[in-house]
Amino acid sequence: MRRFVLLVHRVPRDGQFTLNDLAGGAGRMDEVARVVSTAFTVSNDLRRDTEVVLLFGGTEGKVDGGRRIVVHGARVRYLNPDERSTAALLKNALTRAIAHPRDFESSPGLVVGPIDGRAELARLAGEPRGVWLTESGASWESLGVLGPDRTFFLSDPYDPTDEEVAVLRAANLPAISVGPRSLRASQVVDVVHHLLDVAAEGGPNPPV
Ligand SMILES: C[S@@+](CC[C@H](N)C(=O)[O-])C[C@H]1O[C@@H](n2cnc3c(N)ncnc32)[C@H](O)[C@@H]1O
Repeated sequence: MRRFVLLVHRVPRDGQFTLNDLAGGAGRMDEVARVVSTAFTVSNDLRRDTEVVLLFGGTEGKVDGGRRIVVHGARVRYLNPDERSTAALLKNALTRAIAHPRDFESSPGLVVGPIDGRAELARLAGEPRGVWLTESGASWESLGVLGPDRTFFLSDPYDPTDEEVAVLRAANLPAISVGPRSLRASQVVDVVHHLLDVAAEGGPNPPV
């Protein structure tokens, strides 16, 4: 399975934003939705072997505290390629999560619940086979770490906070760059899928 963990910084965690201003008042929910859509959709199909974890940092127990949304490719429904309808699914999850003290399925394949942002990132980064995607990382070709069953950590349009960087460093994840340009997060997801697709077909840089 391919898993992407996206660090989300400015999207209102209580879901109180309008779908008419995704790139502004919604804290760049447009790009967050694009990451989700890019991670799962291909032409006329969905990638069922993929999972996306959205980490909305913050402290557990507060109305605007940390939230986690997990999108399971194997079960997700109502996911269309456009960012507005994807943002609507995520907004619905965040809004309904206010009244739920535990994880619950807000729509088929979308599980949302409260977290402590720092602790959850540390837990996920502590699992095996994590990779930190960052512009300043080493070339993925030289390290040859891309392969199946990886968890890729990346950030939304805002750089990871100092605290998040400290957690990722403490977990000793390999830091990998997928190219010489700073890309949008959704573009990075596309590149990673492409590299893994090619490698899975025995391409020029098969995983080690
Ligand atoms: C738009 S960038 C973050 C902001 C960017 N640092 C800036 O100066 O505007 C979004 C995220 O995509 C990932 N990313 C962007 N370019 C990358 C690259 N060439 N290789 C690996 N990850 C990259 C990183 O996780 C980054 O935090």
